[in-house]
Amino acid sequence: MNKSNNQDNLLEKIVSLAKRRGFVFQSSEIYGGLNGCWDYGPLGVELLNNIKSEWWKAMTYREDIEGLDASILMHPKVWEASGHVENFTDPMIDCKQCKSRYRLDVLGDSINEKKKVKAIQELKESVKNNNTLQTKVDEILNNSGDEDPFERLLEVQELSGMLLQQLNCPQCGNKGTFTDARKFNLMFKTFVGPVEDSGAVVYLRPETAQGIFVNFLNVQGASRQKLPFGIAQIGKAFRNEINTKNFLFRTREFEQMEMQFFVKEGEDKKHYDYWKAERLQWFKNLGMTPDKLRYHDHPANKLAHYAKEAVDIEYEFPFGWGEIEGIHNRTNFDLSRHEEFSGKSLKYFDEQAKEKYIPFIIETSAGASRSFMAFLVDAYYEEEVKGETRSVLKFHPRLAPIKAAIFPLVNKDGMPEIARKIETDLRKSFRVFYDDKGAVGRRYRRQDEAGTPYCITVDTQTLDDKMVTMRERDSMEQERVSIDQLSGYLLNKLHND
Ligand code: GAP
Repeated sequence: MNKSNNQDNLLEKIVSLAKRRGFVFQSSEIYGGLNGCWDYGPLGVELLNNIKSEWWKAMTYREDIEGLDASILMHPKVWEASGHVENFTDPMIDCKQCKSRYRLDVLGDSINEKKKVKAIQELKESVKNNNTLQTKVDEILNNSGDEDPFERLLEVQELSGMLLQQLNCPQCGNKGTFTDARKFNLMFKTFVGPVEDSGAVVYLRPETAQGIFVNFLNVQGASRQKLPFGIAQIGKAFRNEINTKNFLFRTREFEQMEMQFFVKEGEDKKHYDYWKAERLQWFKNLGMTPDKLRYHDHPANKLAHYAKEAVDIEYEFPFGWGEIEGIHNRTNFDLSRHEEFSGKSLKYFDEQAKEKYIPFIIETSAGASRSFMAFLVDAYYEEEVKGETRSVLKFHPRLAPIKAAIFPLVNKDGMPEIARKIETDLRKSFRVFYDDKGAVGRRYRRQDEAGTPYCITVDTQTLDDKMVTMRERDSMEQERVSIDQLSGYLLNKLHND
């Protein structure tokens, strides 16, 4: 049995399996789809719910974290205070010729290296007579370190327009057809009430975090928590992303699993380090390949305006490393801003120290949808078994959409009756699947593709010994298990492994 290392078309294969087996469908497919939106099918919704449920248990089944479910629409001032109205923007350019739209900061991904080098040469030529610009260009070219000088030149407002004039549009191939960069706010706007005027504007939340910040004192008062403590929330978030690509990786509607941990200033570093370790371990505990996980610490010059320290947990997707979760030390920025904009005190009274202060916040922010994609990609294997290729999703049993499939070997001799009785009993505690169609080997393959960890077959011997054949998905090993111990067997596998 060989684990396939074949990365060719891996993402296409996974997208195709996801559709065929009912994990993920394109949104509004019969109308041609809606870019950046996806629907979770019968197996997908189980997997997504299992991921969220594991996160919820890990985060809130402890003394120091409370749950919350805040509304998606919030008072518009929330987004002024948070900085989203002003800063939640991407720099965007359009091609005047073919109307294609690009995010300036990732334009480099669509242009080959030779063309970038040539455009930089041409830029150098055009700034020759301007000492200030020439110094800027030289500074960037000489001090880029690990960073791409092309990207850094595009970041400088006075240079980006000149550099863009040297480039061909990746879509239509015309040169010098780009507009100057403009700020494009990623928040979706809508209106409350019947009148669509500026006074009625609200936003679909671009992150769940703000619902937690504005409820900090409500939750703290109601739960009588003392610092340090956290508030956790799972919910939808919306961003009008310019480039949606790579399946579920960057979508316009997605789910986040966020937890904000409120701590006293001075203790922030200790909690930041704790959550950094804890969150990586969560992915590993659920079976994600350790070698495909890494930290990416944000360098000080790239930190978000509110952050003192930040790290991404990255997964190695078929298209490269990508962030699946961010851990930030957000300082007291958020609560201070909400205090300022709302005029309401958000200070915590520390009974022990007999002082009032605004806590620091350590944030853990994971994408449920992006984690879904990482778990799906990580679980996918192609293996040669007896000269045939089997596609298998090796989900951790706790994440698997279906925990066990039940097969009667043949549809006679009392086997279906026993199998149906087992199904009814197990269904009280587990999501199970009954299948009596086709050869047992084919039934196994169908469950392998769905990621079902256990297959239970009722055979001729069962009629005598009241035992069934239990086949484990990854090893494909089989053992006999007594019917009356099946439930305990599965519980043990789900909770102790
Ligand atoms: N509250 C902090 C925050 O929202 P973020 O890095 O913008 O931070 C956190 O987002 C996580 O949300 C990311 O690590 C990613 O998993 C997920 N995420 C963000 N934008 C996404 C998108 N357009 N599509 C899918 N997931 C996204």
